[in-house]
Amino acid sequence: MELLEGELEQIQRETENILSRHGTERQELIPVIQDVQGRLGYLPQPAMEQIAAAFKLPAVDVYGVATFYNQFRLNPPGKHQIKVCLGTACHMLGGHIILDSFERRLGIKEGETTPDREFSLERVACVGCCALAPVVVVDEKVEAKVSPIRVDGILLAFEIEKKEQEKEKAEEKQEGGGQDQ
Ligand code: FES
Repeated sequence: MELLEGELEQIQRETENILSRHGTERQELIPVIQDVQGRLGYLPQPAMEQIAAAFKLPAVDVYGVATFYNQFRLNPPGKHQIKVCLGTACHMLGGHIILDSFERRLGIKEGETTPDREFSLERVACVGCCALAPVVVVDEKVEAKVSPIRVDGILLAFEIEKKEQEKEKAEEKQEGGGQDQ
């Protein structure tokens, strides 16, 4: 995942602060990883390498810890988070087909984020509304009885919204530019 402008500096600064607060005793490794994720929303590669160097551990060991616990994420959360339920009821009613549809439409696998960071996709266990299966939670909003066509609809709505925002921004810029002259 490519870093955004200025992101590397921010990662290094935040990780350094967290390391200096905790120190590098072995028992501090998980608290450090937790705090880095808390500050940055995920565990970027440069932070993992920085942590490994500070603890004098091979990076692979730090990754081993992070991947062992599923509270940790190695990809940045997307602006829109899509969670496909694959609990029993949703699975029985085609939840995996829905997950498949999102993967194909977004060009990513579950657990990943699109390169533009618009969407992240994950599978979740039962979200507690089995009567509405198959269920997808999009940015905290529950989508009920989702079909592959509905997947297209959900993503299309975001595309339209994004285009409108871009158009508004371009218009504002034009108006601003006009005033300068
Ligand atoms: S299994 Fe999906 S909501 Fe219960």
